[in-house]
Amino acid sequence: MEIIRGKHASFIDEPALVERLAGYDAIHVDIGTGDGRFVAHLARACPNAFVIGIDACRENLRDVSRVAPENALFIIANAQGLPAALRSLASQVTINFPWGSLLEGLLANDPALLAGLRRVARPNTMLEVRLNGGALAEAGWSLEDGGSRVRDVLAENGFDVPPPIALRAGELKAIPTTWAKRLAFGRDPRALYLRAVRNVSTVSELERV
Ligand SMILES: C[S@@+](CC[C@H](N)C(=O)[O-])C[C@H]1O[C@@H](n2cnc3c(N)ncnc32)[C@H](O)[C@@H]1O
Repeated sequence: MEIIRGKHASFIDEPALVERLAGYDAIHVDIGTGDGRFVAHLARACPNAFVIGIDACRENLRDVSRVAPENALFIIANAQGLPAALRSLASQVTINFPWGSLLEGLLANDPALLAGLRRVARPNTMLEVRLNGGALAEAGWSLEDGGSRVRDVLAENGFDVPPPIALRAGELKAIPTTWAKRLAFGRDPRALYLRAVRNVSTVSELERV
């Protein structure tokens, strides 16, 4: 799979990835990571965790990846085709303020995206999704209906998901991602937070599909 650090892109195979992850207590995967700021923040805040950021767009990752700590890794990949080497790795997954095909895939129950999420997450892995009103409106959904739809899709795919929680400017300001800040200080600071857990009982059943 292709990784990036600064301007330098290279490839890492599964054994090399396993070696890099050795000794860490937790592995956090952030999908649609954007400029990587969230990953770098988490990696510095939690030195015993290894944090992997994934995005389809390499240009945004250059600056933060160049100076990110050793326990952070940036992978260039499409969320609809998550690398097989990430199977059952994540103890925590985040998708913060998705747009484009990542958001559309969540709303449409895209089989490739959802199968990838299930593969990456271990049983009991927490999946946190933050959705913003503007991106949902562009995709043709109201904030409320979009949040319910993503909740239903995750539930169909083996996640236990309580109802979404509304995030306003104050809460958005406290989330260490670039988009959270943009939203918090923008014209429409409305977002939703979904906190799902990978359901142990459906793991083998869904993996047979
Ligand atoms: C609004 S930005 C949010 C970035 C970051 N999570 C944040 O909160 O600042 C959405 C990100 O999703 C990425 N994205 C959209 N579709 C994707 C896909 N199919 N696979 C991987 N990344 C995708 C975009 O490249 C973009 O960086």
